Amino acid sequence: MTEKVALITGSSRGIGKATAIRLAQAGYDIVINYARSKKGALETAEQIEALGRKVLVVKANVGDVSKIKTMFAQIDEEFGRLDVFVNNAASGVQRPAMELEESHWDWTLNINSKALLFCAQEAAKLMEKNGGGKIVSISSLGSIRYLENYTAVGVSKAALEALTRYLAVELASKNIIVNAVSGGAVDTEALKSFPNREELLHEAAEKTPAGRMVEIEDMVNTVMFLLSEESSMIRGQTIIVDGGISLLV
Ligand SMILES: NC(=O)c1ccc[n+]([C@@H]2O[C@H](COP(=O)([O-])OP(=O)(O)OC[C@H]3O[C@@H](n4cnc5c(N)ncnc54)[C@H](OP(=O)(O)O)[C@@H]3O)[C@@H](O)[C@H]2O)c1
Repeated sequence: MTEKVALITGSSRGIGKATAIRLAQAGYDIVINYARSKKGALETAEQIEALGRKVLVVKANVGDVSKIKTMFAQIDEEFGRLDVFVNNAASGVQRPAMELEESHWDWTLNINSKALLFCAQEAAKLMEKNGGGKIVSISSLGSIRYLENYTAVGVSKAALEALTRYLAVELASKNIIVNAVSGGAVDTEALKSFPNREELLHEAAEKTPAGRMVEIEDMVNTVMFLLSEESSMIRGQTIIVDGGISLLV
């Protein structure tokens, strides 16, 4: 493969980091994005450089459109192209609906939903210069099911999945393929912010029909499938990777 470039937002740790490393192993040069975890971002960069790939590390809060625009300008300047965009960064305030304040809503929706629209607009401009590209977002089961304290994040992920469908149609003429992967609980640092972490982990371990929790690599495998030629007729879909737990009442 000749110097294709992939941007993974929120790739300083967790699912984003693992995706960045897998894409580097597949031969992509990588743009690592983070908001606070500089150390994690630089460690990921080191691992990618050790694989012989080029890396650009960009600190940018994807909830801020001006920061998004600066990030894409840096990508254009450094690489002049973009082939893959994995919209992975997420944050959110975990509160019951009646305790959510406007600032919680705005914070969560800006990072988890708005970022996809404005990153996709910038990504599409770079992708169409080279005849197309692929966009995959990471969602969660809270988009379609009730999860305790998850109102703001669940709504933000529902918007992300809806936007995935709209972008899939409107970017198809530019040969840009847009999909999402939704996961059951994965034991990353993200779960530390869940007040009911222990209960979630216990439930996922005990009840998942597949017999185990979803692991980071299960998510990355599905992202890689959606980025492959084999899946090119899958458009605007959200593939659920949860070992079957969402099938239970
Ligand atoms: N873990 C789960 O159970 C689970 C299940 C289903 C889906 N997901 C989804 O999978 C994705 C990754 O989750 P994870 O579990 O790997 O989370 P994680 O370990 O908490 O990592 C989140 C990443 O997003 C970055 N990030 C957060 N806010 C950001 C912002 N405003 N701008 C740029 N980067 C930002 C973080 O960087 P900084 O540290 O620098 O802020 C970090 O690299 C998310 O979309 C999440 O909703 C997770």
